[in-house]
Amino acid sequence: MQPDISIQNLSKVYSGGFQALKSINLDIQHGEIFALLGPNGAGKTTLISIICGIVNPTSGRVLASGHDIVTEYRAAREAIGLVPQELNTDAFETVWDTVAFSRGLFGKGPDNAHLEKVLRDLSLWDKRHNRIMALSGGMKRRVMIAKALSHEPRILFLDEPTAGVDVELRRDMWTMVRKLRQSGVTIILTTHYIEEAEEMADRIGVIRHGEIILVEEKHQLMAKLGKKELRLHLQSPLDNIPGALSLEPLALSDDGHELIYTFDSQQEQAGIARLLRQLGDEGIEFRDLQTRESSLEDIFVGLVHETSGASR
Ligand SMILES: Nc1ncnc2c1ncn2[C@@H]1O[C@H](COP(=O)(O)OP(=O)(O)OP(=O)(O)O)[C@@H](O)[C@H]1O
Ligand SMILES: [Mg+2]
Repeated sequence: MQPDISIQNLSKVYSGGFQALKSINLDIQHGEIFALLGPNGAGKTTLISIICGIVNPTSGRVLASGHDIVTEYRAAREAIGLVPQELNTDAFETVWDTVAFSRGLFGKGPDNAHLEKVLRDLSLWDKRHNRIMALSGGMKRRVMIAKALSHEPRILFLDEPTAGVDVELRRDMWTMVRKLRQSGVTIILTTHYIEEAEEMADRIGVIRHGEIILVEEKHQLMAKLGKKELRLHLQSPLDNIPGALSLEPLALSDDGHELIYTFDSQQEQAGIARLLRQLGDEGIEFRDLQTRESSLEDIFVGLVHETSGASR
């Protein structure tokens, strides 16, 4: 099956000469939840804006649902719903009018049943006669999502969908995104909340300085790059790590009460058995132990900060 989004050698140089994207290649399959992670200024919004036809590409090609976003703009744009990072709704309009108008913009005939479903799914039905200005920030954000879904797009872009949203609403949002995926919508989201990508995404792309530095299935990424940590709480504190153990990936806590052993989560466990034997040989006793797996956050921070180089 052809991908829902196909990005080929896409670059963007803004008019001031700043290169925001450097030869991006990426395919997104139908029905995926794809999370794009990257620090501020990495190029996430630029990439999404090009796909959605808001920013012109400098070179390269993008197909959305098989349609070239430049030469077949209308067809491509019809397949896409966009919830932008910046909220821009008409404050004086009612919720219903603004969502109905959005649908009309895409040349779709009125479909009150569809709009009702969208508003109900987003818990906005009771607010449909309210003016946007009379809504809370979280509700305004949901109105943006309703607008993006008004024309029944096949692909939905969410640029920082839960920035500034409280924890409860964020969870509601996640549930809603999963429901959307079940109904056959492909979802591409950017987020600063790594927890969000960890919770939601099937696949994760990491972008830095305008380059995609990694694309991986979430589970594979966590297994591949993840580290495990074994903490041994010692019976009596140590001043330093004994020489016999100096070759092991070991650290001693500041108070000398804990030995911390770090290892690849894919590696077989032989290292631990050896470590424990060596501790026995050295007469080092421990009274408790804990293991911890690295989170996506640890992995992301490691990726984004390693070998930076180019300036922002
Ligand atoms: N219209 C513009 N003209 C010139 N440079 C721009 C323009 N828009 C964005 N940039 C630059 O392009 C780079 C990427 O910006 P972009 O908004 O795509 O980043 P982002 O990854 O979405 O960041 P954030 O996480 O802060 O939203 C930044 O250095 C930004 O200053
Ligand atoms: Mg952005």
